[in-house]
Amino acid sequence: MPFPAAFIDELIARNPIDEVVGQYVQLKRSGSNYFGLCPFHGEKTASFSVAPNKQMYYCFGCHKGGGVINFIMDIEGLSYPDAVRFLAKRANLEVPEDEQYQSQYREQERLWRLCKDAAKYYHELLKSEAGKSAREYLLRRGLDWATVVKFGMGFAPDDYHALIPAMERKGYSREELIAANLAAVSQKNAQNVYDRFRNRIMFPQIDLRGNVIGFAGRALDKEAKAKYINPTETLIFSKRKFLYAMNLAKKSKRPYIILCEGPMDAIACHQFGFDCAVASQGTALTEDQVNIISKYTDQVIMTYDNDAAGQNATQRAIQMFGRAGVKVKILQLHDAKDADEFLHKFGADPFEVLIQGSENQADYRLIALQSQFDLSKDEERVEFTAKAAELISGFASAVEREVYADRAAKAAGISKDAMLLEVSKSFKNRTRRERRQQERRDLSPAVTGLPEDRSLRSEYKNPRSAAAEEQLIGLALLEPGLMDLAPELQGEEFSVSFLGRAYEALRRLHREGLRVSLAALQDFTPPESARLSAISQRYDRVSGEQAFEDCVRVIQNEHRKSQDNNSEAALFAFSQALKKDKGYGGT
Ligand code: UTP
Ligand code: MN
Repeated sequence: MPFPAAFIDELIARNPIDEVVGQYVQLKRSGSNYFGLCPFHGEKTASFSVAPNKQMYYCFGCHKGGGVINFIMDIEGLSYPDAVRFLAKRANLEVPEDEQYQSQYREQERLWRLCKDAAKYYHELLKSEAGKSAREYLLRRGLDWATVVKFGMGFAPDDYHALIPAMERKGYSREELIAANLAAVSQKNAQNVYDRFRNRIMFPQIDLRGNVIGFAGRALDKEAKAKYINPTETLIFSKRKFLYAMNLAKKSKRPYIILCEGPMDAIACHQFGFDCAVASQGTALTEDQVNIISKYTDQVIMTYDNDAAGQNATQRAIQMFGRAGVKVKILQLHDAKDADEFLHKFGADPFEVLIQGSENQADYRLIALQSQFDLSKDEERVEFTAKAAELISGFASAVEREVYADRAAKAAGISKDAMLLEVSKSFKNRTRRERRQQERRDLSPAVTGLPEDRSLRSEYKNPRSAAAEEQLIGLALLEPGLMDLAPELQGEEFSVSFLGRAYEALRRLHREGLRVSLAALQDFTPPESARLSAISQRYDRVSGEQAFEDCVRVIQNEHRKSQDNNSEAALFAFSQALKKDKGYGGT
């Protein structure tokens, strides 16, 4: 009996692959991945890689690969269920009964529906007479009605009992309202359950699949205790994985993502045509959010507030994005405290100009590095020089390297020539390292075509379809919502049957609202898991709906052709048999 998917999801989340593998293999970070010596075959150069954002490992040498469960199966020599139990124990998780999972999933579905109904209720109120002053407030802040509708904004009236009775009439219980964080229990009187959001502009929080999963509310009353009430953790909402407006920004044609601090800033960006804006909503940026962004772009424009808190958050974010291979530009807004104010004051063109010319991250990174050292001490100056050289050697243009080497030299109190020498040493090391990595990638079966494993090769009879099938899976892993584009596609239409099974399993995870990850798949042989892992290594950025639909078309065409061939062959065999029966001809 397979384990419940939600449990496997949790198990994988609580056993980060880099941590688990790190207990067996010494890993070194390189970009967003780790490398180390493969524990499954003897080697002297590190060809074993771990990709934390994909939760997969893969060895370019011996072609073993998979998720954290596969790793434990291999290294501990355990069966699948025992590896699951092993990891559950490691993370202090109980292995659940199937029943329990079923009821949790039903509860999730109820909460999704409740949040959607609540969003409709708040939106209707904003349109009604009761919402007149809220409407006026939004218009005063320069929002078009079309924008209000696009974001599904609403109005929560100044009343402790408005949403609750409305939702009760629709059949939801108080417990469900509390579970969705829409209602709260009075501390003085446990009988008293009241609306959590009152006299506020409501911002529904919509996930990448279009589900409403929670709300943020901005006070209309200047005296209110909290200007914003943010959504909190529930069964369906996880703060650390959520980015406001990402559901819209992911469709943008712009090559970058604008990261704002609050929903009003993101909304203003969209209204002014910057449909690639998202907001992190006052909370510190998390690794999960960085990973989500890094799936869609390799460039982020940050527009955090000009205050000290905003600038600190910016520094932190630069480093996190750096590790995920995302370039960061900082938007310096003059004469405005945030993007919202800037856009309404000066319009879209000056904003575009700022984006095109926005300050490079180099400045920030050098300053950040400098602040980690006490440059009055000799040994720290030496260490700073080495680290600075490494940082600067990564800058793309020679001019940049020259300028920043000068600056770092001054900070370290050494000559510019000495610094430049360090930088060029570092530069050579880096290019050598990168070339080696590239060679390794070029040799991997992911690029050369057929799987390494012989038992799998015989399955790859139709290379055209197989390539499309693999790409389809790669795209679905990056952007699960794409699978909604082809609800009719069947696993049986795949020419490689385990790819068909994998695709269907991924789609099931997606439909159940779980994280779509290969690491969560069950019932695949080790060579199959390794191949899937190799596929996931191949795609780093979402390339969009067109590519996905092309793949679907190829798979379905090839499938139809093979059906036709089969029926022709069958017809032929049948006519041969007939001839034989009648005794004229045949062999
Ligand atoms: P700001 O106070 O700069 O608000 O806080 P804002 O985004 O400019 O909002 P408007 O323009 O006044 O409507 C920045 C962000 O910090 C979070 C919110 O996400 C806000 O957008 N914040 C702020 C909170 O979470 N709670 C608060 O009480 C205040
Ligand atoms: Mn503002």
